[in-house]
Amino acid sequence: MPYRRKFLTRAGYTTLSALLTMGFLQKDKQKEDHSTDSITANYINVNSPLRQLAAAKGKRYGAAISSDILLKEKDYANLIARECSIVTPNGELKWNATEPQPGQFTFESADAIADFCQKHNIDLHGHTLFWHMGRPDWLPYPPTLKMIERHVKGVMGHYRKSKVLKSWDIANEIIADNENETDNLTYGLRKGVKPELIRDLFLIAASVDNSKKFYLNDFGIEGATWKSERFLKMVEYLKNSGVKIDGAGLQSHLWFSTAYGFDEKGFNSVLKRLNDLEVKPIITELDIIIDTPLPDSIKKLDQMVADSYKRYLDLCFAAKVDTVITWGLTDRHSWIRHPDWMPRKTFRDNPNLWKFLRPLPFDENLQAKSARNAIAQAFEQAT
Ligand code: XIL
Repeated sequence: MPYRRKFLTRAGYTTLSALLTMGFLQKDKQKEDHSTDSITANYINVNSPLRQLAAAKGKRYGAAISSDILLKEKDYANLIARECSIVTPNGELKWNATEPQPGQFTFESADAIADFCQKHNIDLHGHTLFWHMGRPDWLPYPPTLKMIERHVKGVMGHYRKSKVLKSWDIANEIIADNENETDNLTYGLRKGVKPELIRDLFLIAASVDNSKKFYLNDFGIEGATWKSERFLKMVEYLKNSGVKIDGAGLQSHLWFSTAYGFDEKGFNSVLKRLNDLEVKPIITELDIIIDTPLPDSIKKLDQMVADSYKRYLDLCFAAKVDTVITWGLTDRHSWIRHPDWMPRKTFRDNPNLWKFLRPLPFDENLQAKSARNAIAQAFEQAT
């Protein structure tokens, strides 16, 4: 049964005034190699690259990327370099890519991304050292502590001296989706995972390389949910255990439509409680999927997506979130267009509806969408 994406935070969309008319993105005022994001105020406007708009507010904007596409598609590589100051490998740093056989490490595809980051002054976010998916066939879940120690030493050790890799999702999606899928009601951990194992994972990571930022990453925690309550308890447990944990990754795969109310109050509470725990909320995998009922036009859908980006990011920036990563930059390569991941009920058996899967800032022709302008506006209005 493929990994099923549960419905996550749902939100109605606000009828915000029409976003900025789609202007042509101004040619970067910066040197072609984008060696720096610091630009003088009179250059910046909402048509500037997102990385520059973010930098102007001391923030970072980026996207998940794939090494094979980076090498095959020059237009995609140029767009990433122009718009992103941080990137996350889509799969190149998952266990099945880095340790396909016990004790045998491979980093070619991840290193290709690291080299790209070096060339374009982009931070690299390491995703991920511990996950129930993306595992080689030989690896059980949860892995033994011995397997974890060998993996963390091998992978974090390889990037210890990296100038671009700045952070790790030390653990990903360790909270079960509901109480039937856990044997620990306090922390709601996936079956077989003990809190002490996650504590020891973080301790081992710190013993290998404590120069990076450490995150605990999960989805379905962007509001007052069964999952977010247990995620916060797990963060508190790790803090109280004295482990190094710098940030909490809120994946933010968000599902919006006119039928669902967004839990703004619950989301604000999660952000506040993380800040109170001194664990920075980071937006790690943001994309906005409009689900049933679908609007009757692509134009309306794009506006719903844009409004949802603006509303969500306004709340994030009000809570001083300083890093926003979308799970992809262009609809051309969104994971949600893959039959394994798209919402089964609405889309999987209706290819004629796949054109409505438009969750990202740029369309399949790498043209800016109203979502991109909404993100730009959110950065511009951030205080
Ligand atoms: C997804 C990738 O985008 C897909 O290409 C892959 O087939 C499966 O994993 N949460 C995560 C990411 O933490 O690692 C997942 O990425 C999406 C959900």
